[in-house]
Parts: sequence; structure tokens; C-alpha cells
Amino acid sequence: MADTDIVRPMGATDPGRPSGRARRKREVPMSTTPFHDLTGPPAADTGRRTMGAVVQDRYGPAPEGLFRVATIDRPTITHDQVLVRVHAASVDRGTWHLMAGLPYPVRLVGFGLRRPTYANPGRNLAGTVEAVGADVTDFGAGDEVYGTATSTFAEYAAVRPAKLAPKPANLSFEQAATVPVSGGTALQAVRDHGRVQAGEKVLVIGASGGVGSFAVQIAKVFGAEVTGVCSTSKADLVRALGADHVLDYTRQDFADGGPRFDVILDIGGNAGLSHLRRALTARGRLVIVGGEAGGRLLGGSGRQIRAELLSPFIRQQLGTFVASEKTADLMTLRDLIEAGELAPAIDRTHALSEVAAAIRHMLDGKARGKLAVSVSPGRMQTPATGSAP
Ligand SMILES: NC(=O)c1ccc[n+]([C@@H]2O[C@H](COP(=O)([O-])OP(=O)(O)OC[C@H]3O[C@@H](n4cnc5c(N)ncnc54)[C@H](OP(=O)(O)O)[C@@H]3O)[C@@H](O)[C@H]2O)c1
Repeated sequence: MADTDIVRPMGATDPGRPSGRARRKREVPMSTTPFHDLTGPPAADTGRRTMGAVVQDRYGPAPEGLFRVATIDRPTITHDQVLVRVHAASVDRGTWHLMAGLPYPVRLVGFGLRRPTYANPGRNLAGTVEAVGADVTDFGAGDEVYGTATSTFAEYAAVRPAKLAPKPANLSFEQAATVPVSGGTALQAVRDHGRVQAGEKVLVIGASGGVGSFAVQIAKVFGAEVTGVCSTSKADLVRALGADHVLDYTRQDFADGGPRFDVILDIGGNAGLSHLRRALTARGRLVIVGGEAGGRLLGGSGRQIRAELLSPFIRQQLGTFVASEKTADLMTLRDLIEAGELAPAIDRTHALSEVAAAIRHMLDGKARGKLAVSVSPGRMQTPATGSAP
């Protein structure tokens, strides 16, 4: 493998099937203090506690000039929330959707009609529990956790316990923060929607990306024969993830009459439905996870809608899903990671002040696997680490 860091923990064991277990008001920026001034104690006279955070005031399709780092109030937690000191976050396609407010339905589900509801589009986190609400029993101060919340490009986040789990012990905070959304989506695609069985042939389109890099590994855990589709320069990464075969989409067509697949996980590239169906076995299952073509209104989901409408009338099963974020899946992912069955493939780690650069790296198609964001005080303004683009 070239540059991307796949964390492969030691002690890999049984390759069997894995077993498992508020919206807040807009965070109003209080000032734009230079970032190096942000880590001090609360103001003694007011008791008001502040933190460093990325702040986005308007929607925009390009990250350049959209973010500033500012001092804002720390989130306060309710009786059923956990306050997490965020050590790391990460960037994925969902970050862009929240940043851009596109497709428009994103704005209708609580992220803000005309401007972002939340301070920033961060959704993943790994960190340490700082405090818990009176009704929280599963977590306590000092616990190392990972999961999802809103506005995670910040030093603190208020998190619902149902979106949190103990951090995999063998991962750093930066590594762990790349797992929740992408790993959870991949797990649900393989296990719940693809219903992948041992020995089945599985095609993962978008195998080199955030979701795909987890999906390849999880499909292997389930005993599948995996073919990964990616661009030329990332074939080595997909092989290192464990794919049995790799197809370069710039040179090869997965539906060119070669072997048919029992399950196709369509994560990137927006291939047409008929094209995808040609590569499926007669009773094969197509799971459309994503794809970035399409307009501002539907964002390419026309394909998903057509798949759902057609599926009842044919022998192949065509479907899509919106991933849910939950503790049980985070626990399953943690078990797999700690057993050495699964590992995040991390391209690079950016400082908090470089969120725009991280998003640009992803939009330019340069990311190999995942992009982490370090929120540690020592990494707030230092350059990105990892492979060169
Ligand atoms: N359903 C859900 O709940 C859910 C949850 C999370 C994400 N998603 C969606 O899933 C999609 C992938 O997200 P991500 O974070 O994994 O994105 P990502 O990291 O940017 O990965 C995109 C992948 O698509 C591949 N790709 C690009 N053009 C292609 C083409 N013409 N043919 C085949 N593959 C191509 C890329 O390969 P190269 O880099 O090698 O070019 C890369 O592997 C997005 O649309 C996202 O919105 C959906």
C-alpha cells in the first residue's frame, strides 16, 4: 500500500459474524478571539465557559472562505446528555452536504432553512467525557468515547448517550473519530440491507472512499468474495483493505459480461439502474448507499426512488437506506476493531483550523479512505499530516 495509514491492530481472531450490543439551538459566536487564546479557564466573574470552534455563518458549495475559528460558548447539557471534550473529529461527504445545505431536503430536517442551524457541519467525534446529565447512567467523567453529535469541529460537544459508545481501545482519538458515520453506514449496508452471506460475490463501488473502505473490510468479515471498484491510483489501497479483486473504473466496466454479483453496494459513481442490474445475479441485491450527481432538489436520489419503485416487480432486490447512528452499531464496530477485523484507512489528519482544506481534499477526489481532524490544543493550527495528495 502506498501512503494511506490502515490501522491494523494486532491479535486478529475469529473471522465469524460480528455480534453486537437535540437538536440544540444555534451556537451563537461570542467573539472571534485568535485561536491560541481559547483554552483558558472560564471567566471567573460570569461563570461563562467558552471554547474554540469552527463557525460557519452561511451555506456555500465551496469550503473556501466559509469557516472561521472563533470563541463561542461551550454547549450546556440537559439531564439526558453527555458533555464530551472533543479530541478529534472527521470529514466525510455528509460534512459537505451540511456545509452546502444541499440537496435542499437537508435544510428541512433541522439543519436550517436559510442558514446553518448549528455552528459547524462536524458530525463525528472521539473524546473524553467531561460531565454527564443527572439521568445518564452509561457514561461517567473521564470515559473515552466516540460517536456522533452536531457541531463536532469544536473543543466540546453535547451528545446523546444513544449516539455514543466506548472508544476502541486500540485506536487513537483521531483514528476513532473517522469511524462513526462511515463505519456505521458500511455496517448497515453490508449486514442489514445487503444481508451478505459467506461465499457470496459482493461488488463495492466506491471502495476507496470513506464508506467503501469500511464496507470492503466488513464484507470480508462476513465471508464474502469482494470486488472493489475505484480509480487507478487507489487500487493499492483497496487491495490492502482486503478486496479479492479490484476494478479500475477509468478502464473497466463492472457490467461488461464478467462475473455477476450476489450483492452490489453502490457507494460512488452514479451508475444507471439498468447498468447495475446487468451486473447482478438473477436474484441479486442492490443497495444504493450514495452518489454525488444530481441537482440541488433531489441530489441524485431519483435513482434511489426508481430502485424502490421497481423492486417489487422484479426478482432482483433493489433498495436504498438512510443510515441511523446508534450505540449498538458503534459497539459492533468497536468489537471488530479491537479484534483486528476492521481498521480505519486514514489518508491524513488536519488541524481544526484546516477543516476547509480537508473538505477541499475530499471534493477534489484526492482522499484515500478517511480524513481526520485533530482538535487537540497542540494540533489546532499545525499543517496536515499524512500522505501527500
Ligand atoms: N445512505 C446513507 O445513509 C449514507 C451515509 C453516508 C454516506 N452516504 C453517501 O455515500 C456516498 C459516499 O460517501 P463517502 O463518504 O464514502 O464519499 P467519498 O469518501 O468521497 O468516496 C467516494 C467514492 O466514490 C468513488 N467514485 C467516484 N467516482 C466514481 C465513478 N465514476 N465510478 C465508481 N466509483 C466512483 C471514489 O473513488 P476514487 O476516489 O477512487 O475516485 C470513492 O471511492 C456519498 O454520496 C454520501 O453522501 C450515504
